[in-house]
Amino acid sequence: MSEEKGDISVTIRLKERLFRFGRGPKFKLKNGATKFVSAKSEASEQSQVNTRDSTAEAPQDVQKSLSLNIADSNETVRVESADPETPEKNPSVTQSLDEPQGSKQTTDGIEPPANLGSDAGQAKRSESGKTVHKNLFSGLFARKQLPQTPTALFGKLPLDALTTETYDVVSPFSKITIASLKELGSGKAYYINEVEPTEIEKEPLNALLEIISKELGPPKNGVDPKSHVESEARRLAKKYGLTKKISDESWPKIMYYLHRNLIGFGDIDVIMKDPMIEDLSVNGVGLPVYVWHRKYESMPTNLIFTNEVILDNLIVKLTHMANKHISTAFPLLDAMLPGKDRLAATFKREVSPKGGSFSIRRFREEPFSIVELVEMGTLNEEMAAYFWLLIENRMTVAVMGGTGAGKTSTLNALASLIKPSMKIVTVEEIPELNLQHENWVQLVARASYGLGVMKTGEVSLFDLVRTSLRYRPDYIVVGEIRGEEAFVLFQALATGHGGLTTLHAESLDYTVKRLTSPPMNVAPTYIPLINVAALVERVQLPNATVGGITFGRRIKSIMEVIDYEKYKTISSWNPTTDSFATDLKESDQLKKIALKHGVSIDEVLSELEARANFIQDLKVKGARKNVELAKHITNYYLENPFPNFAEKEVKVAA
Ligand SMILES: Nc1ncnc2c1ncn2[C@@H]1O[C@H](COP(=O)(O)OP(=O)(O)O)[C@@H](O)[C@H]1O
Ligand SMILES: [Mg+2]
Repeated sequence: MSEEKGDISVTIRLKERLFRFGRGPKFKLKNGATKFVSAKSEASEQSQVNTRDSTAEAPQDVQKSLSLNIADSNETVRVESADPETPEKNPSVTQSLDEPQGSKQTTDGIEPPANLGSDAGQAKRSESGKTVHKNLFSGLFARKQLPQTPTALFGKLPLDALTTETYDVVSPFSKITIASLKELGSGKAYYINEVEPTEIEKEPLNALLEIISKELGPPKNGVDPKSHVESEARRLAKKYGLTKKISDESWPKIMYYLHRNLIGFGDIDVIMKDPMIEDLSVNGVGLPVYVWHRKYESMPTNLIFTNEVILDNLIVKLTHMANKHISTAFPLLDAMLPGKDRLAATFKREVSPKGGSFSIRRFREEPFSIVELVEMGTLNEEMAAYFWLLIENRMTVAVMGGTGAGKTSTLNALASLIKPSMKIVTVEEIPELNLQHENWVQLVARASYGLGVMKTGEVSLFDLVRTSLRYRPDYIVVGEIRGEEAFVLFQALATGHGGLTTLHAESLDYTVKRLTSPPMNVAPTYIPLINVAALVERVQLPNATVGGITFGRRIKSIMEVIDYEKYKTISSWNPTTDSFATDLKESDQLKKIALKHGVSIDEVLSELEARANFIQDLKVKGARKNVELAKHITNYYLENPFPNFAEKEVKVAA
């Protein structure tokens, strides 16, 4: 037993180092703390890489023998695993030692997934004799390591699955297969396939993981972590005589796993690197991880966290990567990961009875430009030109919609149309907006330092909107209004600032209700300060578009706010033809613009048409990237001022 304890504390120290590298927890675990950590969970921590294929191969027989073994000995695995010699002496015992990890789940009432983990293909593979390798492997580390337990399960594709598409993520190491499964009623599932280390590669790989996590220092200034890990891995392999065990062909694979586990996201790394994924969610232990795919929407994956401690550790690791805190005392988190991906998490079973959960919304490095939105059919050129004219004239636009409807993306594209000479202040809870403007101040709210009800150091959206006024902005862009900041924003609008914002609401009526109720408390007389409200929604498309995508984001309607509870719809989307019906001649806001400049509505409409054509030209030319687009828009403002009084004078003089 004492030997076991010693091993665990080594593991914990090791884990500490690992975490530190990824900006992990700073707390120190003393030997005493091992009391709280069961041997099996710690062992599983170590086996992040190597258990990968053993678990993928054997869930069925694991489950079977589980019910046999554990029913008899109702004892925890820890006791059995206390004798590290056992696996060597008796391979059949190794199998049963590996199992109880799953057994805990069964005894906890968490059923292993029916469809993704234990399928025909898997059972077949497990019969193929690989078990022998597994036992051999357990033997190799018998003195140092506790029996391997699954960290996460990567189920194999069932034989009767129908593959829809396969693509590489990190070629040649990881790829994705999208397949229809019978078990899901032909629904699609997302299969992660990673090149697995061979038995020969596992030994040096695990040794390196262990050594690096002990000996790796922080990279020198300017050295990127990836090359740092790479050069250190080579140096340490040499130092510890591992070079002989790693062939030239194996190095890239070993590096892949070192990167994945040390500086990447471990088991969810492939998902995080797949550009087709919009978000991923881990709903608890023993449940498949779900992804939202740009092409196939929501799907279960073959990845299942089978071990609660591993899942909790991953949540802590992610939290620390985001420089935030999560614990049983403060089990809720909303944060941003270093790559700007948005992380929401719950810790342990404090508020989520199925175990810790998290959801990551992937960040688009390059936000959709207005031309891309037109290309994707979210709006048409005419609507884009309409927004452009409004925005040039400092009018206020609110983008409404549900979660993930595309509000922030639309807001970003609209904000890019703001005249380059105008001053913009953006206010957000999480920095998502990305503009090309130079005259742009980006303000981001900050959570409190204090714990519990103390609000020490908190800087709220309300504070920021109030502060933004001191910057004398032409435009205030608020990522999303939710609370009392709405009140300040409307006061700003009343004093002549332009505003752009999003609101979580499914209709204008509901938006206005929300705005006029606590905590926003905007006076009904202020409501018309929103000149135009656009509703964006994820919709089912009548015809599949390019690439077979059957859904899309559409601006379902554009409404002008004439007065409190008096609106005029000037554009609506037709779901049967996937087209927009616009009635811009009737626009009150365009009339206001005409009046402001002393021109006729027809002149405004012809300018609108010119801009629509300009956007179409850009689309044809393929000028869709924001950087390039910003130049074209600046040029347009310079070359085609509206209204062009100078031109008129010239004409008169001639
Ligand atoms: N018009 C669009 N077409 C296709 N995908 C979009 C569109 N707008 C947004 N998305 C994608 O949808 C997801 C959610 O978008 P986001 O703008 O953050 O939504 P919201 O702010 O409404 O929650 C993102 O992954 C984004 O890339
Ligand atoms: Mg948003």
